[in-house]
Amino acid sequence: MNQDKINIAIDGYSSCGKGTLAKELAKFLNYRFIDSGSMYRAVTLHCINQGIEIGNTNQITEELANITIGFDYNTSRERFEVTLNGKNVESEVREMRVASRVSEIAAQSAVRKYLVAMQQEIGKNGGVVMDGRDIGTVVFPDAELKIFMTASVEVRSERRFNELIKAGKEATLSEVMANLTERDRIDSSRDDSPLQLTDDYKVLDNTELSKNEQLEIAKTWALECINQN
Ligand code: DC
Repeated sequence: MNQDKINIAIDGYSSCGKGTLAKELAKFLNYRFIDSGSMYRAVTLHCINQGIEIGNTNQITEELANITIGFDYNTSRERFEVTLNGKNVESEVREMRVASRVSEIAAQSAVRKYLVAMQQEIGKNGGVVMDGRDIGTVVFPDAELKIFMTASVEVRSERRFNELIKAGKEATLSEVMANLTERDRIDSSRDDSPLQLTDDYKVLDNTELSKNEQLEIAKTWALECINQN
């Protein structure tokens, strides 16, 4: 491990702004930001495209051999974007047809094992800010900084709805709220690596915080950890 560069895990509920915070924090530290949820979404998209039944765990496990996930750097957005078998699918994986099935895919142990190994490889030299659900508990249990993000379901639904509309996607606010609530339920109650708030996390509830206020808090925590490292 490079002594100067720590790993930062950002976990929490759906649509609490983990990605936005992780991206800005990574930029400030000159670290790499990885959105692990986009990897689960890419696997889901592949299964939908191939007509594979999402509940067919055996077929999905076999299909993993035909799935290559990568990241392309988008210079104008200043972030890595997910690729599926060489094609940039960053926008497609945000569609509701993917969002509504991704938690079922993410509950499958074979999929998790495959993606966790990739995530650990990406973070093996430190210098990564990764957001997800199990980053601090499973992917990087030794991460020097673990942040657990949360916000009220109303605020989260509105934020995600506005993002979808801005991106020209079809959605209604009630559909988004129902999807978020259901995803949180599945993500927190599954057997394999559920979303779990353990004692070693610092909690960031951003219901009433601006993006800048959250970032300032996270920067302070990160600098404290880096200085102690
Ligand atoms: O963060 P997101 O909404 O893009 O995540 C998509 C889904 O993948 C969500 O249902 C939770 C799941 N996920 C997970 O189980 N583990 C991760 N490390 C990241 C996401």
